[in-house]
Amino acid sequence: MKGLLQNQTAIVTGGTAGIGKAIALKFAEVGAKVAILGTNAERGAKVVEEIRALTGGDNALFFPVDIGNTAQVDEVIKKVLEKFQQVDILVNNAGITCDQLIMKMSEEEWDRIMTVNVKSCYNTTHALVRPMMRARKGKIINVSSVVGLTGNAGQVNYAASKAAIIGFTKALALELASRSICVNCIAPGFIETNMTEVMTDAQKEATLAKIPLGKMGKPEDIANTAFFLASNLSDYITGQVFTVDGGMVMR
Ligand SMILES: NC(=O)c1ccc[n+]([C@@H]2O[C@H](COP(=O)([O-])OP(=O)(O)OC[C@H]3O[C@@H](n4cnc5c(N)ncnc54)[C@H](O)[C@@H]3O)[C@@H](O)[C@H]2O)c1
Repeated sequence: MKGLLQNQTAIVTGGTAGIGKAIALKFAEVGAKVAILGTNAERGAKVVEEIRALTGGDNALFFPVDIGNTAQVDEVIKKVLEKFQQVDILVNNAGITCDQLIMKMSEEEWDRIMTVNVKSCYNTTHALVRPMMRARKGKIINVSSVVGLTGNAGQVNYAASKAAIIGFTKALALELASRSICVNCIAPGFIETNMTEVMTDAQKEATLAKIPLGKMGKPEDIANTAFFLASNLSDYITGQVFTVDGGMVMR
């Protein structure tokens, strides 16, 4: 698999931790240059260092940005294009939760989730789509969640945002197919990251009980799927949702 993303440049949003970090490392390992977009400069610098140590090359850079801020994203995408000339792969991974029952949920808690999880996808894609269309190739991978398919009590904002990403994926796939740009979505299940670290033991046990494979997923499980979707192994696949969840959700 080494070299399968050689001469490709990828943007990974939220690439400083968890799933995004695993995707950035995987892409670099198989030859891609990687632009890591995120808010945490310290963690960003560490990931860049790790990638350089792994690959022995100067093939990763961190770009600070609040992914929900359209003006900031426009600026940062310009900088990435100046640095790397082209972007072949976009992974819209950055995402947050802010769990609350609907009756207690504030407007701010609703808006924040929609901005970081959904508007972010508009921001990056809108800023990148013209050069990708001109190049007549590209892969866009959006990170949703199984919760976007099933719903989850206490997460109406998060579930709505993740369902929106699925609709976004399908509409975008239809818009870009004639330019040979493939747009797909990964819906992770229960993955070991900072996001799930905050769950109580009782919540973790209840979730584990719903997983046929009987264990949590690792960020690398999602990175392997992202790698497949970023590579030419998936050139005939677009507009699809891949659940990577140990069998938790079967449709
Ligand atoms: N961990 C899971 O079980 C799970 C399950 C389903 C879906 N997901 C999705 O996977 C994606 C990655 O989550 P994770 O589990 O790795 O979480 P994480 O908290 O470890 O990582 C999230 C990343 O997003 C970045 N981020 C957050 N807000 C940002 C902003 N405003 N601008 C730029 N970057 C920002 C963070 O800095 C971090 O790098 C998210 O979209 C999440 O919804 C995770």
